[in-house]
Amino acid sequence: MDADIYLKQEIDLRHEGRSLRLRVAQDLFSSFQADAGTRLLLRTLSGVEGERVLDLGCGYGPLGLALAAVGSHSDVHMVDRDALAVEYSRQNAVLNGLGGVEAYGSLGYDDVADPGFDLVVCNVPGKAGAPVIEHLLLGAERHVASGGLVAIVVVDALAAAVEGTLNLAPGVEIVLKEEGARHVVFHYRFLSGALDMSDPGWHGLEVYRRGEGSVEVRGHDYLVETAYGLPEFDTMAFTTGLLAATLDGKHEESVSRALVVNPGQGHVPVALLKLFEPDEVVLAGRDLLELRYSRKNLVASGLPKEQISVAHQVGALIDDGRPVDLIAVRFGGGDGPEVLAALIGDAASQVRSGGRVVVSGGSTAISRITKLLGRDKRLRVEGRRRKKGSAVLMMRAP
Ligand SMILES: C[S@@+](CC[C@H](N)C(=O)[O-])C[C@H]1O[C@@H](n2cnc3c(N)ncnc32)[C@H](O)[C@@H]1O
Repeated sequence: MDADIYLKQEIDLRHEGRSLRLRVAQDLFSSFQADAGTRLLLRTLSGVEGERVLDLGCGYGPLGLALAAVGSHSDVHMVDRDALAVEYSRQNAVLNGLGGVEAYGSLGYDDVADPGFDLVVCNVPGKAGAPVIEHLLLGAERHVASGGLVAIVVVDALAAAVEGTLNLAPGVEIVLKEEGARHVVFHYRFLSGALDMSDPGWHGLEVYRRGEGSVEVRGHDYLVETAYGLPEFDTMAFTTGLLAATLDGKHEESVSRALVVNPGQGHVPVALLKLFEPDEVVLAGRDLLELRYSRKNLVASGLPKEQISVAHQVGALIDDGRPVDLIAVRFGGGDGPEVLAALIGDAASQVRSGGRVVVSGGSTAISRITKLLGRDKRLRVEGRRRKKGSAVLMMRAP
């Protein structure tokens, strides 16, 4: 999908005399202008040296790219769990002619292979959940070089908790604290080896574990493990239930390959597994946390790992030339008309003829889709359910 359908505007950012032009997307963090916390953090980094920089949770790239533009920062890694953020950081690096920058998807530090960063920077995602924030703060230990610096900014409301976490952690030394109007910056270092990072709770998905939910399929409740930082952690949304119930009507059909777009905590993939027992499930979407939790829930529900593939990407096009029998798409509340149209176009182009596409979302989104289908004749509406949202079932014309 062309990432430009997400573009909101271009903004300017100045750092140490360099001016950057940044493309920003509507639903990335701080799309009006660079965040006040980001700018405060950058001011505290003026003159800080270090070749290798890790920007954790890079968004559209203001921290990592501003650093790449000045001083000695010649090797800058920018990571985010959101594929759209990664895409915009890449585009912004090119737009500003910045070399030595790599942007890639990572859930926390999980996909950062390299140790030895001289500087780790992060505008801490305030809504990630307390254990995840602690992980983002202290997990830097494994990636920072001996004597390296971690520099973070948090909103006021989190500052006391963050300072408490840093003070309590063995071997962490806060070397700077700076308060802005609504944010606080901390710079800190680790005394090497003081933190015990061998505890498995420090790695992988365990950090995100929040509780359990369930999805009902043909009178049975199937458990799903739920994560911090994703909706539907305690109860499933009505729209997700509608989607599962809509599929139920077709459960006798044979589905060999299914695609779930924006799989959330995993309720829909698990429902689909129980209804159709597909040979292969493809999970696609922007958010690595959704993709990994859904995969974990599918495996726990009995689908072998080898039968699941994951596409961390913007848009729904898998583009491997292999047909899909069933596609389920959960629309997010923030998706504009162009995004909806592109997702439906992607689904229509890869479902096999006679195969089905089922979508769920808010009523406005679903009304928009039904209008679109009036023009795009590839998908024919077979049924619609409504209750605090909508789900629509469509068939690809033979
Ligand atoms: C407060 S925003 C900061 C964005 C950008 N650095 C800036 O200063 O504008 C936090 C970013 O962290 C990302 N994020 C949240 N949780 C994450 C996680 N567990 N792993 C990786 N990225 C995460 C979000 O997608 C978001 O882009």
